Amino acid sequence: MQIIIVENKEKVSLEAFNIVKNIILKNNQAVLGLATGSTPIGLYKLLIDSFKKEQLSFKDVTTCNLDEYVGLDRNHPQCYYHFMKEHLFDHIDISLENTFIPNGMAEDLEKECKHYEDVLNQHQVDVQILGVGSNGHIGFNEPMTPFDSITHVIELAQQTREDNARFFDAIEDVPTHAITMGISSILRAKKIILMATSEYKAQAIQQMIEGPVDLKCPASILQTHPDVVVIVDKDAARMLGNG
Ligand code: F6R
Repeated sequence: MQIIIVENKEKVSLEAFNIVKNIILKNNQAVLGLATGSTPIGLYKLLIDSFKKEQLSFKDVTTCNLDEYVGLDRNHPQCYYHFMKEHLFDHIDISLENTFIPNGMAEDLEKECKHYEDVLNQHQVDVQILGVGSNGHIGFNEPMTPFDSITHVIELAQQTREDNARFFDAIEDVPTHAITMGISSILRAKKIILMATSEYKAQAIQQMIEGPVDLKCPASILQTHPDVVVIVDKDAARMLGNG
């Protein structure tokens, strides 16, 4: 694991941007694994800026998102399909048919999971962007999710629903379930960038980097991947190296 500690969240976004930009410049057909939530928004803004300055094109890029809430319509402002359009896809030259997000409204969710895993098998991710939950989740793989899991339906942890309640009117509105890439699906990416900012993530970051590889902290499995870059601000790195 390469650990990069920077001053603030703007610099976290910039470090991640530089890596992603170089991957796209080297391979205009790159496959990007994308995350939602507040952490990657700064990275997506930088990607949009560089498209507008004609430095990057996404015409032949493919994207695969990590996860989607179950039961939110694609027009719902908090569904991840909507999030991706709002924060990235609507502002760049990507072809929507090259963007993949699990369908949380599918009638047969098991079939949808299988279908999404097939999509992932057909598009090996060149670089996977990850945030991390305060409980150490990656994607929506909550603590105790098996490390060999593939795309599946998960019941969201109470902690996750509380953390994400900030995006909804009330905690009761936060979906109880999501479809998520599994941990082994995530680990198939050639390169992984995990970003985290704020003191709220400090414990998860400490356990992920310095703790044992343990189901209680799903992100700790990243210690076993050959090419992981962790980019954190000072606050998220606060508990590192304390023994
Ligand atoms: C989002 C995702 C989650 C988030 C994590 C952190 O697609 O898979 O693992 O990355 O919950 O969320 P934020 O960035 O909002 O703190």
